[in-house]
Amino acid sequence: MSLYSEKVMDHFKNPRNVGVIEDADGVGEVGNAKCGDIMKIYIKVRDGILTDVKFETFGCGSAIASSSMATEMIKGKPLSEALTLTNKAVAEALDGLPAYKMHCSVLAEEAIKAAILDYYKKNNIPYDEETFRGVLEEHEE
Ligand code: FES
Repeated sequence: MSLYSEKVMDHFKNPRNVGVIEDADGVGEVGNAKCGDIMKIYIKVRDGILTDVKFETFGCGSAIASSSMATEMIKGKPLSEALTLTNKAVAEALDGLPAYKMHCSVLAEEAIKAAILDYYKKNNIPYDEETFRGVLEEHEE
């Protein structure tokens, strides 16, 4: 049996929503210090809905597949729903990731949160710090 599911391979080989949004309303960049991989997510927001999402990932195949799947899962959704997306849900939607690759899906969850936090900050929208705890800690380092 292959280490990776067909869905992981599909999203790795044909990633959805790759690219940059030049006039993004929010941009989130996160990295994993251990593997050195970086993920960047761009969002467009209108009336609280994520009208567009794009990503750039300088990372492994699982990180590419995770960001591709995660952007598909939140596109067209309200910000409140995107904020509840967990890395586990992303991994499940990919029909699983090997245990030692779960951190790759964490990057996707955190990059989305970082992009939404950026949008909130730029627009002086109050936010719940608890929701962004992981991302805020990383930014404060
Ligand atoms: Fe680091 Fe996948 S090995 S994100």
